[in-house]
Parts: sequence; structure tokens; C-alpha cells
Amino acid sequence: MTRPAPALHLREDLLTPRFYTTEIGKAARTDLESQRPAFEAMLAEMEADYNRDHFDRRAPLERLRRLSPDQKVAYESDLVRSCISEFSGFLLFKGLSLQLQKAQRPELSRLFNLMARDEARHAGFLNRALVAEGIEIDLPSLSAKRPITWFPLDWVLYSVYLSEKIGYWRYILIDRHLKAQPQNTFAPLFDFFEPWCQDENRHGDIINMLIRCWPGLNTGLRGRLLSRFFLWSVFLTHSLTVCERGDFYRLLGMDPNRFDEDVMRQTNRTARRAFPVVFVLDGSRYFQLRDQLVDTYRQLKDCAGQPLKRMGLNARFGWLLLRHFLQPMQASAEGKA
Ligand SMILES: [Fe+2]
Ligand SMILES: [Fe+2]
Repeated sequence: MTRPAPALHLREDLLTPRFYTTEIGKAARTDLESQRPAFEAMLAEMEADYNRDHFDRRAPLERLRRLSPDQKVAYESDLVRSCISEFSGFLLFKGLSLQLQKAQRPELSRLFNLMARDEARHAGFLNRALVAEGIEIDLPSLSAKRPITWFPLDWVLYSVYLSEKIGYWRYILIDRHLKAQPQNTFAPLFDFFEPWCQDENRHGDIINMLIRCWPGLNTGLRGRLLSRFFLWSVFLTHSLTVCERGDFYRLLGMDPNRFDEDVMRQTNRTARRAFPVVFVLDGSRYFQLRDQLVDTYRQLKDCAGQPLKRMGLNARFGWLLLRHFLQPMQASAEGKA
């Protein structure tokens, strides 16, 4: 018997999180010696496993405040997307751990294995919330079905650092908002966000330590270009995703635009600890161009069957992207409080 096709908002192939791999040989040459004390401290912290009992398998996840069908769609889409992102992190870290073990780097392998442990817990927890909604995603078969994208090691370090830190700020800002407005906590899942975000914060710090192991990766022209490109692309993806899924944030009682800006401000500020330059978000046209990009993106999605209009919008979108990409940046040391 063939299974019915899943509802549109649950189709994993419509979602953007991808699966990645990188230059294992180069990763195996990471020289930890300059970062030895930080490495030992982080490994010990990961071994301590502060959240061992946090993601309790018996925690009740099924109690939902009454949601309308549209609200359910918003909640479920966010769950699916987050679950796949967490699982993608698990696969990357687990893959690196296995390969580093083969390459005779047991310490590094151990560190990635501990990060994979956390991501597996996160994905598993979200998966349980989905099962409580009657939705099943076959995570292991997803990795077999979807292409795995290869990126150079420096791209992986920059993008994973940012996704961990942006993940941290997303979880903590939602947590703070719901603590101030508990009437909007419509699912028990949100009660778990605070220690959860500490996992992501630790992962970001570990990746930052690995960036520091590679002289030249966060200095000079290369460091400035990598910082600009990854901050810009990660922030843009965030803005477009938040705008596409605005209903989810409104369901939490949040203004999606405001949330997007807060997440970018905080992540940009945090990135000063790892990147040589960060964007000047206030006092520049950054957010204004973000609004125009989001607006053009929306129009593009709504203009199927109008090729001329589409061409014009595509040109506008491209021009906005370029201006957005070229927005001013400042040296990290300058902006530090
Ligand atoms: Fe995670
Ligand atoms: Fe993480």
C-alpha cells in the first residue's frame, strides 16, 4: 500500500537545511597545541554533560493549547525545519568524529562525538514533539535521500560557528520572551529551551577554538571576506526564513521582524569574539535593505505565471543583494564594549 503524500508544510524536500561534509584530511591536520588549555577545558566541559538528564524521554510534550489548523501548520513547519537542522548538525559532527578517529586524531574525534551526542538529543527531542503531533519523519533515510554538500574546511568552520551562535540566540530570545509572557507558551517544548541553548553556545565556542588553531583563518583579507560572506548569508537566510514563517512567531506573541533584528544584533555582537570584522547594523542601511529584500522575495513567490514581472523582480532582488552584501563593516576590536 502506498502511503499518502505528506501535507505541503511537512515535505522535507521543501525545506532548506542541507547535509554537509568537508576536507577530512585537512581537519585531521588541525594543530591543537596553541589552543591546548582551551581545548582541554572544553573537552572536560563536554564530558561533564550538564544536560544529561535535561532531555528526559518521559517529559510530556503532547499538551498543546488549542491551536487552529493554521496555527498548527505554523508550529509543525517550525518543528520539522528545526528537527532537520539539528539532525544535519548531528550527521556532520558524527561523520567528522568517525573520520578523525580513522585519521588517528582520537582527541578531536572525541570532541566531535560529544557534539554529535548533543545534536542527536536535540533532533530526537524535536522528533518526539512531532510524533506527539502524529507526524513521523524518517531521519536516517533522509540522509540517504538528500545530496550531501561538500565545503572547504574554512567555510564549514565559519558557517557552523555562526549557526551555533545564531541557534543560541534564537533559543534564548524565545525563552526570555516566553518567561516574560508565559500565556504564549502553547507547547511544553519551550520549557526546555534554556539549557538547550547552552549546548549550542558551547558548540560555538568549540568551533571558535578550532578557528584559532588555523593561523590566517581569522586575519587579513581572507578573514575579512569569510566574515562578510558568512555573516551576510546566514543573516539573510534567517530573515527570509523568519519572514516566510512569520505566523509561528506571531503565535508566540512576537513580532517576526523585531525578533529577526534582535537575533542578528546579538549574533553580530557575539561574532566579534571570533571574526575580525562584523556588520555595522545600526546607523547603516542594513535593516532597510533587509526589509526591501524580504518584500521583493515575497513578491517573487507570488508572481508565478508572469514572466516579465518575474524578470524585473529578479533583477531588483539581485541589485538589493549586492548592496546588502556591501554594507559597512567594522573591526571587531573597535566595537567591543
Ligand atoms: Fe542543536
Ligand atoms: Fe549545536
